[in-house]
Amino acid sequence: MSGILKGKKGIISGALDSNSIAWKVAEKAHAEGAEIVLTNAPVALRMGTINELAEKTNSIVIGADATSLEDISNLYDKSIERFGGKIDFILHSIGMSINVRKKKAYTDSKYDWMQKTFDISAISFHKFMQVAFQKEVMNEWGSILGLSYIAAQRTFPDYGEMAESKALLESFARSFGYHWAKKNHVRVNTISQSPTMTTAGKGVKGFQEFYDYADKMSPLGNATADDCAAYCISLFSDFTRYVTMQNLYHDGGFSNMGMSPDVLEQ
Ligand SMILES: NC(=O)c1ccc[n+]([C@@H]2O[C@H](COP(=O)([O-])OP(=O)(O)OC[C@H]3O[C@@H](n4cnc5c(N)ncnc54)[C@H](O)[C@@H]3O)[C@@H](O)[C@H]2O)c1
Repeated sequence: MSGILKGKKGIISGALDSNSIAWKVAEKAHAEGAEIVLTNAPVALRMGTINELAEKTNSIVIGADATSLEDISNLYDKSIERFGGKIDFILHSIGMSINVRKKKAYTDSKYDWMQKTFDISAISFHKFMQVAFQKEVMNEWGSILGLSYIAAQRTFPDYGEMAESKALLESFARSFGYHWAKKNHVRVNTISQSPTMTTAGKGVKGFQEFYDYADKMSPLGNATADDCAAYCISLFSDFTRYVTMQNLYHDGGFSNMGMSPDVLEQ
């Protein structure tokens, strides 16, 4: 470890269990010298595994439903109290589709569920940013990051309304990225990650087959959660200060492939 986050303080959302991308980010951020606060929805905290992570990373856990402005505000107040100062980075690693989870066909979507999905998976990113913006909790040259998927640009039929959630998430990064840059040089990006074996990932129908397909289609193979975490760390570090308003593919080359002989053979 090189200590590239030494002295930095950040909030990491979405660590559900040791497979979660956010879990790996928390471990790496700690190993690279950052001080962190962990957060997840109160219902996820009841599972208890996040406390193990908190112990390992010398951090505290603050429950917050990402759709609640009040919870987010409290999360920032308590984090600043813990850090004794403002925040350098925030990871939004939150996603959940109600229609997909309840196996409702895309062509028969329930709209109140769809709205809930957008609120949890995308509008919460805007909420994280808006509350931080208004409370002025971010340090100069800070970094805000969300996790996305290529279904924002291409059609993956079983991904359901998460496709639109990701399109919205990426758009929020661009639009809010402008305001953050002007306010205090904070950058906002999304990483578009390969399919990854996590609770959220496995919730998509036929995920294993799809995972294998993407692995063959990508010349480098699927990017792992560990590697995704390493990429996140680089985006929190001072080595990427002028990268903003981008959707950055971390997918082993998948997004630029047309045809792969490996897939044809299979
Ligand atoms: N797994 C994949 O294949 C994949 C690929 C690309 C992008 N992503 C994205 O990565 C991010 C992290 O997902 P993951 O794959 O690590 O899965 P995960 O299931 O481990 O994490 C999703 C997290 O969202 C949290 N969450 C759900 N509702 C919430 C709410 N109301 N408030 C606060 N938190 C809430 C869950 O508790 C969980 O910790 C998501 O945005 C996901 O869409 C995942």
